[in-house]
Amino acid sequence: MEKKTDQRVEEKKSDEKKEIDITDLPGVGAATAEKLISVGYSDLMSIAVATPAEIIDTTGMTEALAKKIIAVARSRLEMGFESGEELLRRREKVEKINIGSADFDALLGGGFETGAITECFGEFGSGKTQIGHTLAVKAQMLKDEKDPIAVYIDTENTFRPERIKQLAEGAGLDPVKALKGIKVARAYNSDHQMLLVEKVEDLIKKHGMNVKLIIVDSLTAHFRAEFIGRGTLAERQQKLNRHMHTLLKLADMYNLCVYVTNQVMAKPDMFFGDPTQAIGGHIVAHASTFRIYLRKGKKGSRVAKLIDSPNLPEGEANFYVETSGIKDFK
Ligand code: GTP
Ligand code: MG
Repeated sequence: MEKKTDQRVEEKKSDEKKEIDITDLPGVGAATAEKLISVGYSDLMSIAVATPAEIIDTTGMTEALAKKIIAVARSRLEMGFESGEELLRRREKVEKINIGSADFDALLGGGFETGAITECFGEFGSGKTQIGHTLAVKAQMLKDEKDPIAVYIDTENTFRPERIKQLAEGAGLDPVKALKGIKVARAYNSDHQMLLVEKVEDLIKKHGMNVKLIIVDSLTAHFRAEFIGRGTLAERQQKLNRHMHTLLKLADMYNLCVYVTNQVMAKPDMFFGDPTQAIGGHIVAHASTFRIYLRKGKKGSRVAKLIDSPNLPEGEANFYVETSGIKDFK
């Protein structure tokens, strides 16, 4: 046990050592930094993984400067290799949040993993928001040294504290304590949504919160509403890409679980299989570690289908949304 703590402290130290601001980049003064941050490049990693064209398009800086800051960001970040053994050690720290239905948890190899993004997509009423509420309660049952905190970024005004109370009672938790363990923010547009996700780091670093779960419900609704028509699609995808990278980085750096929901759009030209497709396209699909397709099943049940995972077989689980929580289909 003690060893584990030492290790954590050591890792925290090395994280802090690497902490360099974007204003430390050559040629980036206060005004340029502000511009970079306003379009989503708030840290070195986001710049290091960007292409010069992306940065030029969104900030209007010269090609020479864009190339230079990318190169410097990359060198500062020590984007090196890790041995398989180190990776395995990291994997051993993965925690799993149980949803409450044994079948659903088994589908995910034991629950919703920390250090990863899990995406649920499906039609209205398929249970995406209910899963989010349930996870926000269940995350607080993780056995950590500090009380686990769930962050709920609500874009559709569908977060309901009353529902949290019911689910907490169902899980045997004190409802008031469960509500205190959830930090909710309403996102009014896609920029606001991106900013809120970036601010999660402050909760961890400045306020010392043990954030174990970030929920973005819905991930794509604002993006979908704001960027209409093909001309603006590339811009939307770029922003969404940056957003996903911020989430992935948080999941990775702080070993927390990210849960995002995504709508589907009808594909009337499709005659075989399920005529629906997730919004957000390849960008969201690629960045998500686990992807689950939700649909309505028999007798008011819901069906979760695991369609993408790095290490688990595809499969399905039936479950019910009940007052006390997510339960197995009997
Ligand atoms: P959209 O956000 O509209 O795309 O849908 P969604 O996938 O988020 O659906 P949501 O999670 O809101 O699922 C709604 C379903 O959950 C409803 O059709 C109800 O069947 C069920 N549900 C919601 N609240 C409760 C509740 O308090 N008790 C029970 N038993 N079921 C509930
Ligand atoms: Mg919903």
